[in-house]
Amino acid sequence: MSKAFYITTSIFYVNGQPHLGHAYEMVIVDVIARARRSLGQAAFFLTGLDEHGQKVQQAALAEGKTPQAYCDELAADWQAFADKLGLSNNDFIRTTQPRHQAVVGAMLSKLHDQGDLYQAEYRGWYSWRQETFLTDKDRQPDGSWDPIYGEVVELVEHNWYFKMSQHQAWLIEHLEANPSFVQPDSRRNEVLGFLKSVKLEDLCISRPKARLGWGIPLPFDPEYVNYVWFDALTNYFSVPASLGDPVAVAALGKYYPTAGGPLPAPPQLWPADIHVIGKDIVKFHAVYWPIMLQAVGAALPHQVLVHGWWQKDGAKISKSTGNIVDPVAVINEWGLDAFRFYVLRELDIGPDGNWTDAGFKARYQAELANGLGNLINRSLSMLKRYRNGVVPARHDELAPDANKIVADTRALLAKNELQGALQSIWQLVARANQYVDQTKPFSLAKDPAQAKRLDEVLYNLAETCRVLAVLLWPFLPGTTTKIYGQLGLSDAPDQFSAAAWGGLNTGQTIGEPAPLFPRKDT
Ligand code: MSP
Repeated sequence: MSKAFYITTSIFYVNGQPHLGHAYEMVIVDVIARARRSLGQAAFFLTGLDEHGQKVQQAALAEGKTPQAYCDELAADWQAFADKLGLSNNDFIRTTQPRHQAVVGAMLSKLHDQGDLYQAEYRGWYSWRQETFLTDKDRQPDGSWDPIYGEVVELVEHNWYFKMSQHQAWLIEHLEANPSFVQPDSRRNEVLGFLKSVKLEDLCISRPKARLGWGIPLPFDPEYVNYVWFDALTNYFSVPASLGDPVAVAALGKYYPTAGGPLPAPPQLWPADIHVIGKDIVKFHAVYWPIMLQAVGAALPHQVLVHGWWQKDGAKISKSTGNIVDPVAVINEWGLDAFRFYVLRELDIGPDGNWTDAGFKARYQAELANGLGNLINRSLSMLKRYRNGVVPARHDELAPDANKIVADTRALLAKNELQGALQSIWQLVARANQYVDQTKPFSLAKDPAQAKRLDEVLYNLAETCRVLAVLLWPFLPGTTTKIYGQLGLSDAPDQFSAAAWGGLNTGQTIGEPAPLFPRKDT
C-alpha cells in the first residue's frame, strides 16, 4: 500500500467560538483533500481541537465544571460546526484523548532519554492569552507588548527545556534547499529572515503542575505538565502513530494503539504532506515543529501552507465588538456551497481578506445564481422541454473549450491553487452561457428545419453541465451531486477522470431540473 496524501488543519482552541477564520481553514483543507481523492489519490484529512491550558482550566472552574466535562461539551459544538461545513475529515483529534497523551508522553520520554531535555530556572515575560513566554524581540518599537498578547507579567519558574538552539543551522539549510517547505514564498522568506537574524533559544516545554494542572504530565517528572505548543503540535503525529502508521511507529519505537490493538492494514500517513495554518502560528509550525520531529528521528512534513486572516468590513473579527461573520447563519440563509464558494473564490491562500455582506451577495448573484445556476437550469430545462429530457447524439462543438479548462483546472488543483481553479472553471461557465446566447436554442426550437442544430446545441450544453459538476465537486459537493441527479446520473461526480468530454450517453433521460441557487431580492 502506498502512502496516503495526509493533510491537516491546525487544531482549534476548544474554548474559542468557531468563526469565519476557522471555517475558512477547514474548507481549504476539505477542498484540497477532496480534490486529491477526485484525482485518484488516497487522502487523509485530519482536524481537531486543542484542549489543554490555562484558559480552559480557568473557564471550566468558573462554570463549576471539570475541565474534561467542559471540553466535552464544547467539542460537541465544534464537531457540529465541522459537519455543518460538510467536511470530509477522516479523523477528529482531541488533545485530551488517551491516544494523543500516550504519543506526547512517548515523544517526551525519547527526548529525555536522549539528553535533549534539561531543567533550569526561567524568568520571563509571560502572555496569559497566548500561553507563551515572550522575549524583548516580541516588543513593539515603543517597548509595549502588542495587544494580541493580552496581559503580560514577569514569571520566575523552574522548568524543563528542550535543546532547540542547536538546530538552527540545518533548519536554515532545509528551508533553503526546499522552497516549497513553507508557502507562499513571502512566508518562507519571513521564516528564513527570522532564523538568520535571531539566535534560537531553547524551548521551555513544561509548566509546574501547581500553576497549571490541565495538561499532559511529563512522564519523567510528575511535578510538571507539558507546555501547550509541544502538546498541540504533536497532534499531527499522534493520529498516524495511534493508527499504526509504520513510519510514526518506527520513530517512537513503540506502537500506541487507538483502541483494541493494531489495525489489520494501518494507513501509511507520515510524513504529513501539508499542514494548513494561519499566519499567526507560522513560527510554531515552521521552526518548533520540524525541530521536534528531527530530534525524535521522524521525517519532516512536506509543506506548511499559510493562509491570511479575514477581516469583516475592514476591521478585525472580534466577538467583543460584535464584528463577526457567523458561518452557520450564512449557511442557513444562503446554503453551504455558497459559503464554501465565496471564501475560496474571494481570497487566495496567502493574503488577508475582507468579508463584506455586499461582496458576498454580489458573488452569489453574479457567479452562482446568474452564472452557474442559470446555465444548468436553462440547459436542462430546454433539453426537457424540446427533447423530452432525452440526451441527443454526441456533438463536440464545446469539447476544445472544455478540454482546455479541464487540463488547466487539473494543473491548478494539483498545485492547491483553489482560487485559480475556480477562476478557470468559471471560464467554462461563461463560455457555455455565451454559447446559449450565440446559438439561441429557444429560436432554433421554433424552426423544424433546425432540429439537428438544436440537438447539437442541447448535447453540448448538457455535457458541459456534467463536466462542470465533476470539476466543481471538491468545492461544491452538495450542488454538484444535485447537478448529477438532474442529469439523471446515478453515480457521484467525485472522479476527476470523468471530466473527459463525451461522458453523457445519447438516449439517456435526464431528471428534473430545479434551481440550484435561487435568486434573492435583498
Ligand atoms: N490551537 C492553536 C493552534 C495549534 S496547531 C498545533 C490556535 N488555535 S486558534 O483556534 O486560535 O486558531 C486556529 C486557526 O484559525 C489558526 O490557523 C488561525 O490562524 C486561524 N484563524 C483565527 N482567526 C482567523 C481569521 N480571522 N482569519 C483566518 N484565519 C484565522 O492557534
